[in-house]
Formats: sequence, C-alpha cells, structure tokens
Amino acid sequence: MRVIRSVQALSAWSRALHREGVLIGLMPTMGALHAGHRALIRAARLSCDAVAVSLFVNPRQFGPAEDLSRYPRQLRSDSALCRGEGVDVLFTPSAAEMYPPGFQTSVVVRGLSRRWEGEHRPAHFEGVTTVVTKLLSLVRPHVVFFGQKDFQQSVLVRRLVEDLNLGARVVVCPTVREHDGLALSSRNQHLTPAQRRAAPILYAALRAGRTAILGGVRSAARIRETIHHTIAAEPLARVEYLAVCDPETLEPLRRISDAAVLLGAVRLGRVRLIDNLLVRIAER
Ligand code: PAJ
Repeated sequence: MRVIRSVQALSAWSRALHREGVLIGLMPTMGALHAGHRALIRAARLSCDAVAVSLFVNPRQFGPAEDLSRYPRQLRSDSALCRGEGVDVLFTPSAAEMYPPGFQTSVVVRGLSRRWEGEHRPAHFEGVTTVVTKLLSLVRPHVVFFGQKDFQQSVLVRRLVEDLNLGARVVVCPTVREHDGLALSSRNQHLTPAQRRAAPILYAALRAGRTAILGGVRSAARIRETIHHTIAAEPLARVEYLAVCDPETLEPLRRISDAAVLLGAVRLGRVRLIDNLLVRIAER
C-alpha cells in the first residue's frame, strides 16, 4: 500500500491508472476506522481494480463549538486496517495541503444542505461537499463509496455529482451496526458506559416507527410521535430532531404512500448520534 500525502502525487497516481484503463474506486473517510468503514472498503475492493482511501479530518465540516480537536485520530491502526484490506493508496494530507494559503472556494448544494443536519450544524455540509469535490477532482474515481449511516450526506453527494457532472458512480452501502443495533461511529468511543448502554435507543425508536408504518399507520405525525415516545423512555437521551421524509428530496412527508426515510439525531451528554431507517411499504 502506498501512503500519499500530497495532492500532486495523488493526481499523478490517478493519471497513470487512467492511462492504463484501470477502474478506480475511492472511499473518503475521516479515519478512526471501524467495521462500517471496512465494509465500504470491501465493497470497493470487490468492484474496482484499484482502491484509494482518503483519511482527512476535514476542519471545514466542523462548527466552532464542535468536536474537531476531540475527533479520534489513530493513523497507525487505520493504516494497518487499510493495508490488511488490500487498499492501494491511502491519502492522508495535512490541512495545509488541502487548504493552502489563499484557498477561497466553496461548494454548496443549496436546498438539501439546509434541512435536518444542516439546521443543527450550519457549515457542516458546505465543508463536506467542498472536500468531496476536491477529492473527486484529484482522484477522478469511476466509483465513489459512501455509507447509508450518513443518509443526508449520501443524498447531497449524489446531487453534487450529478449537478457538477463529476463523472463518478455513487454507491451507498448499508449501515453496519453493533449487536444491540447501535450504528458504528467513530464518535461512539466518547460514550461513557452508561451512555453506551442508552445509545441503542435511537435505532430502537426508528424501528418502532417502521413497525407502525408496516402495521398500517400512514400519518407522519403519528409515526414521529411513536419514535419520540420510545426515546422519551431513556432519560440520558435528548432528541435534536426526528423526521419522516421523502428519501430523495428529504422533504417532510405528511402521509406515507410508498417509501419514507426516518431520520434522527440525539445527544447523550456531549456525544451526538445520528441514524436513519429506510422503509418501503412493499416490504410488508
Ligand atoms: P466518516 O464519518 O469517516 O465516514 C466515512 C464513510 O463511512 C461515510 O460514507 C460514512 O457514511 C461511512 N460510515 C460511517 N459509519 C458507518 C457505518 N456504521 N456503516 C456503514 N458506513 C458507515 O462521512 C465522513 O467521514 C466525512 O463527512 C467525509 C465524507 C469523509 C468527508 O469529509
């Protein structure tokens, strides 16, 4: 595995592979890799000839009061995981390499970035779409891999790639979970033992919402109430938002006709957890 730290070396690598007609897969990450990331790397390994993983804790997607300095950094074990999974290139640039002095450009996906996560983390998606655009123009992958765990992010990236004709196929892989349902996240490391025991409540509540839908409830307000009610039973969890939306536009639904995505964010002390569940009525 080659570790690359400069943008020049990364685009030279990609140019050489493009000349040889090699199918390139890219998986952007912020490191602290876990089994969720590993599943995406494996999906990339299966469908592409060469796999690049980027590992960059992107300062632009953290708000001033957020956890940039506390975000876990573990380059040594991350790079061992990538090597073990047969990754070809690990791109680990510094912040100065990605945003050199004079950098002024930003990429914003307007409508989709305002809602849900965007309401609670105002600059977040602008940081994500800017760094993803930059990574896509450096690597020019044929396929780029994202996780359903960050549902809104994946919808934004699809929009971005289509709107700017970035030319990559966007593949979204299922959320990998702990045995008790908690979605794997680099931030789970910050949970205290009591918070960790409480954390599966978010997914349990989303599942209660899905059960209601599959049981015939069509009113989004009633489904949100069911989800809220389940979370309210856990005193350590504070709801930031719960939404029942159209999976493509992310607009809130009033009634469910065929498909919906249930989105949720809760706080457990200083840790913020997000999760989601896609429900199709044909599932019944
Ligand atoms: P990060 O949180 O490191 O996640 C990298 C990728 O792994 C994302 O596509 C995310 O959705 C996926 N992922 C995280 N947890 C997962 C899980 N439990 N199951 C499946 N996939 C999971 O998302 C980011 O980084 C950043 O915003 C990034 C896109 C790299 C831009 O900086």
